[in-house]
Amino acid sequence: MICYKKDVAVLAQLVEHFHGKEKVSGPNPENGSNMFKMLIIYAHPGHDGSHAYFLEQIKEILKDKQQANYEVIDLYAINYNPVLQYSELYSAGRREVSPENLAFQEKIKAADCLLFIYPTWWQNMPAILKGFMDRVFVSGFAFVYKLGVPIGLLKNKKAAVFSATGGPRLYSRFFVKDQSVSVLTKDILAFAGIKARGFSVGSSSKLTEVNKPRLRKIAEKTLRYLLDK
Ligand SMILES: Cc1cc2nc3c(=O)[nH]c(=O)nc-3n(C[C@H](O)[C@H](O)[C@H](O)COP(=O)(O)O)c2cc1C
Repeated sequence: MICYKKDVAVLAQLVEHFHGKEKVSGPNPENGSNMFKMLIIYAHPGHDGSHAYFLEQIKEILKDKQQANYEVIDLYAINYNPVLQYSELYSAGRREVSPENLAFQEKIKAADCLLFIYPTWWQNMPAILKGFMDRVFVSGFAFVYKLGVPIGLLKNKKAAVFSATGGPRLYSRFFVKDQSVSVLTKDILAFAGIKARGFSVGSSSKLTEVNKPRLRKIAEKTLRYLLDK
């Protein structure tokens, strides 16, 4: 009987984890403002390509909309160290979190929505961003296990993920299943309880006049998703 009860509890938690995503609606009233708080994580070493242009469009639209306050964490500009140290290895019971990463955790907690911008490299995110996720989205902050079932701790937030690819859109979508975006939206953000959606554009090895309107449209779509109440 005890075993049965435990099974039901585990099942309930599994359902909650995989299907129980609540509707996320608007800025957190605890923030004391009706403006959204948006945290943008930019993981590109340059400021003149497609991703920089996308970020520029986001900033421009946000300025017009007056619906959100935003902050950009530019991982390359701050020379972020992505290498997880042994003292931080929570899977081995080591739980150190550096003051820099604690400050990032506070910013994430305080944000209503997150926007990740990074290029697709080898069908994945750049190492600097992967290391940021390893070191910041740690157990006890982003998730916990209860009865062996993962529980996301970062509820009531939305995230959007934008990544351009050099290859054509159809290839990324149907042959690679948008892995570079889904590893973040599904395997990390949804795991942490965050409602997340990916946005992508193909054939973008170079920023061209043809790409610019496409990037603008995707930026608009991304913000519609993030700021929809
Ligand atoms: C190291 C590296 C790996 C890449 N891997 C891929 C890939 O797996 N698939 C793909 O379609 N494009 C790949 N690309 C192309 C980039 O996605 C493309 O150059 C980038 O999105 C362009 O954006 P930017 O102008 O902001 O740099 C790769 C580029 C680099 C430098």
